Amino acid sequence: HEYDLLVVGSANADLVIGLDRRPGPGETVLGSDLEIHPGGKGANQAAAAARLGARTTLLARVGDDAYGRMLAEAQRDAGAALAGLLVGPTDTPGTVGKDGIRTPKNTGDADGVEGKDAPTGVALITVDAAGDNSIVVSPGANARLTPDDVAAAEALFEAAAVVSLQLEIPLETVAAAARAAARHGARVVLNPSPPARLPEDVLALCDPLVLNEHEARLLLSDGHTLGDAPEEWATALLALGPRSVVVTLGAEGALAAGPGIGPEQTDGVGMVRIASPRVTAVDTTGAGDAFTGALGWRLGRGDGLEDAVRYAVRVGAFAVTRPGAQESYPRAADIDNSTAEGTAG
Ligand code: RIB
Ligand code: NA
Repeated sequence: HEYDLLVVGSANADLVIGLDRRPGPGETVLGSDLEIHPGGKGANQAAAAARLGARTTLLARVGDDAYGRMLAEAQRDAGAALAGLLVGPTDTPGTVGKDGIRTPKNTGDADGVEGKDAPTGVALITVDAAGDNSIVVSPGANARLTPDDVAAAEALFEAAAVVSLQLEIPLETVAAAARAAARHGARVVLNPSPPARLPEDVLALCDPLVLNEHEARLLLSDGHTLGDAPEEWATALLALGPRSVVVTLGAEGALAAGPGIGPEQTDGVGMVRIASPRVTAVDTTGAGDAFTGALGWRLGRGDGLEDAVRYAVRVGAFAVTRPGAQESYPRAADIDNSTAEGTAG
């Protein structure tokens, strides 16, 4: 394969303000200076994998504007190929300039595309004194990434060992991407964030479905009374049809569940908890994306799910120790040299 990992998803400019506490309705509070960082769950995953050394590219759409250029540069700096980055409403995958920066072929009117000059997606992020963030995303150009774009990028799917998906782009585009991956025998990794109900055939392709507690609870909201044990969520999630499940547990690490996993298996299916190294969290924004990008890369190189999760947990732990999303991601040497090993679980 030319690519270990093809990420299909969003690219956002993250506009970050620190504050003591969030305002209530009708209230105004003062915050810190504004910081602008490259973000978006798709771009974050691709940057994370590329920084670690993965051969990766991102199928995404940005506006023909300064934020779009910032995001393209961040991908290039991380070492990702720009072959899939679409600029403006009607650009299709194709040529990339010598400098690696794509130039939009056509920023004119697009038939059937509403909002011809959709700006690059933006995430308004507030980080409070406790380090907790809340995020509002304005999809912009991300909402214009269509199933037609997936069809036009068929060659990228053919060239990829793993295709990684999240839900900040239209659901029909996610479904088209999962099906294109399946047609080409690529493994599908999917993080249902922000949470949405997925078509059954798409769920059935996920190997693994990667999600946190919040996302797990939403996906399981009907028909299940959920307790506090992640093992219980994993069992219920597997019953929805994915081939395997990874539940991220924040500072506790992650739980991997599926065929051949763990020491004790019922009908060939088992699970194992993987502890996280103990770290001091500074900023958790995008740490889940770093985890998932690293996971996709390791699976693409041929690691088993359990080994891939073990590696990804260390990548996610590293990312929370530094501010920002993409800028906080490790290089392979940072992970190889980190001696901290988890002890729990
Ligand atoms: O997962 C973190 C990301 O979510 C941020 O970078 C922001 O852009 C939102 O998409
Ligand atoms: Na971080």
